[in-house]
Amino acid sequence: MDGRDLVRAVKDLGTERGRRAWRSAWRHRRADAVGLPRRGAERARVPGLLTGTEARPGGGVLRFARSELVVRVAVGGAVFWGWDGAPPTPSYAVVGTGPDPDPRAVLEPDTGGGWRVVSERVTVAVSRHGAVEVRTPGGTVLRRELPPRWWEPVDPARGGARWSQRGEVPADARFFGLGGRAAGPRLRDGTYRLWNTDPGGAFGPGTDPLYLTMPVQLVVADAGTHLVFHDNSWDGRVVLREGEEGAGSGADRPGSSELRMDGGPLRCWVLVGTPARVLQGWAGLTGAPAVPPEWALGYQHARWGFGSAAEVRRVVDGYASRGLALSAVHLDIDHYDGHRAFTVDRERFPDLPELALELRRKDVHLVSIIDPAVKAGDALHASGLSVGAGGAFVRDARGREVRGEVWPGECAYPDFTDPAVREWWGGLYEERLAQGFAGFWHDMNEPVSFAPFGDTTLPRSARHSMDGAGGDHRSGHNVYALTMARAGWEGLLRLRPAERPFLFSRSGWAGMQRYGGTWSGDVESSWDGLRASLALVLGLGLCGVPYSGPDVGGFGGSPSPELYLRWLQLGAYLPLFRTHSALWAGQREPWEFGPETERAARAALAERDRLRPYFVTLAHLARRTGAPYVRPLWWGAPEDRALRDCEDAFLLGDALLVAPVLECGADRRAVRLPRGRWYDTATGAAHEGPGQVLLDAPRGRIPVLARAGALLPVRSPGGGAALEVWAPARGRTGGGVVIRDAGPGPAAGEAERYAVRWDGDRVLVEDEAGEAVPGVRVRGL
Ligand code: NOJ
Repeated sequence: MDGRDLVRAVKDLGTERGRRAWRSAWRHRRADAVGLPRRGAERARVPGLLTGTEARPGGGVLRFARSELVVRVAVGGAVFWGWDGAPPTPSYAVVGTGPDPDPRAVLEPDTGGGWRVVSERVTVAVSRHGAVEVRTPGGTVLRRELPPRWWEPVDPARGGARWSQRGEVPADARFFGLGGRAAGPRLRDGTYRLWNTDPGGAFGPGTDPLYLTMPVQLVVADAGTHLVFHDNSWDGRVVLREGEEGAGSGADRPGSSELRMDGGPLRCWVLVGTPARVLQGWAGLTGAPAVPPEWALGYQHARWGFGSAAEVRRVVDGYASRGLALSAVHLDIDHYDGHRAFTVDRERFPDLPELALELRRKDVHLVSIIDPAVKAGDALHASGLSVGAGGAFVRDARGREVRGEVWPGECAYPDFTDPAVREWWGGLYEERLAQGFAGFWHDMNEPVSFAPFGDTTLPRSARHSMDGAGGDHRSGHNVYALTMARAGWEGLLRLRPAERPFLFSRSGWAGMQRYGGTWSGDVESSWDGLRASLALVLGLGLCGVPYSGPDVGGFGGSPSPELYLRWLQLGAYLPLFRTHSALWAGQREPWEFGPETERAARAALAERDRLRPYFVTLAHLARRTGAPYVRPLWWGAPEDRALRDCEDAFLLGDALLVAPVLECGADRRAVRLPRGRWYDTATGAAHEGPGQVLLDAPRGRIPVLARAGALLPVRSPGGGAALEVWAPARGRTGGGVVIRDAGPGPAAGEAERYAVRWDGDRVLVEDEAGEAVPGVRVRGL
């Protein structure tokens, strides 16, 4: 128990819930004392010297004195390696059996007694001591992993090995990713933990870890971009240190990224190429991002504490009567009976299906929160007990159900790593659908068990099925929410095969994009929180999770009108655009902040609505290509170092550059531009990149720039779809892709490609057949 624990512990003793949390924390501590093997004496090991090799499809096996390394290049260029015989699958991240080996990759001797696997896109060189180097075909080194080190208990019955491995990257490299990190998007020197954690209160840029971690790093350097994924769900730490050019005696000091894992396999994937190629490869490896239903790309209002159907109606009517576009309302745990999932408080919400229908007529969808913990002893618990041979719930090493303390009181936890449990849980969404809910918001699924001291989750010794492989919470923890998302997703597809599910989840892991998105969690209501929310969305997108967004206004406080507005203006350009607040926080309806704020909020909501068709296109493009909607400025120019270090603006697809106001009192801001011409969409002024410009950012709007030549699908004032094009620079061309929503089902619309060129004095837009497209609004002339 550290100092922070002590404060938590004392505070909690005053309430009944606090006392239960105390008991639960003690039980968890005792369960681990009994159920976790004591490690005892450990022995360190390194691979030793190379003793032999054997070619295999895509690469080969390299034998060392004290370990064995499999290296395989897959079709498409993804590189896999695994030490100690770790195979690429089964894996919670990688889909199916993984990509096939590239039959053209060959294992051949390298200099210095090492070997290398040579393929079209990448070379993997292994030294005779076991260092692994990833090189471009031209021989430039992108990453060098030093030989790993293991520490294994002298007595093998006491568990597997801990391990660490240090990778070196070029001195100019920048690190991004590792899941949702408040301190990003550029991850500076420091230690980042890999253990999904509810920080237990509103978080700011200094809080780490958060709800959604993953061992995925995107590394961008002059030499090239690569993504590295250590496929291991155990607790661990990543120690990052950026390099320094011309350090000390003038030589470069490389950057380093050291992974220290508490256990689990040492296996790794590396993808190299442009950022777009790398993310495409990642989606190929771990699954295409789910496309949310069209309405989930509109503005959404959530609140913990609506309290009653009447209050929901009041808020929805407030939007409607003011002509403010609203797409969904989210009901939090206060609409449950006693905070129990899959129930309804019938006093406060006497006729939920009727309310849902009424809202649907106004084009407003209802979204339900879903917490995984099931109140011990109630009907849902009883239903779970009849699943499979042993019931649906996580048990401890002695076979007793693990209990924890959450909102409903003492709870049991479904083991979503068990296929039978996923099936049971997925079926429960039928009740939600019958209540009229159209979307689902998974919460508290790190999973959380309130605790005045120690970890606020399940004991590490708790057992999990791990899809038949067996394991405990040390490996099951980080994939708990991922497998819960799978249960919900698959259940919804079974129940409503003709609709794309809408699901987003607070916690998750690599591959969660297959089932939906995520949100910031309880970001603090401050300017720092605003910054952190952009960092999260950018970082998650680079880990392959393109649909996310913050609680507009921050979760726990009462933002000033200015902060609220700046947050809303940013949120209008993020995939999940949702305001949300805590039970104790103030109102978040735009009209609560005064007429000036309401006016500006109206403009932000209207612009989001106008851009809906563009968001639809971006959602479909994410599915096809893995490219996030929200991209860092360096997306198309990773070699531009100034862009690499720019963290306060982003690209929305190919066409727009958004420069939110992240500072109190600012009414102008510097905006860094990538190469090419950019139009200020408010003034029409053209600016030439690369470079930096100072732009006006009055209270009513934030700077948004359009790339010259870009084509955008927008909603026309009459409600239909229209095309808008920004004039290319003279003598230049442009173009764009449009994918229309093909209804609520899984079918995707066809991609329509358009070319843009000058024809004398006018700008012409042509379709794929070369036909001029009439009625396109040309801007920037
Ligand atoms: C924690 C979530 O992060 C928050 O969004 C939600 O309002 C509360 N749980 C209550 O359900």
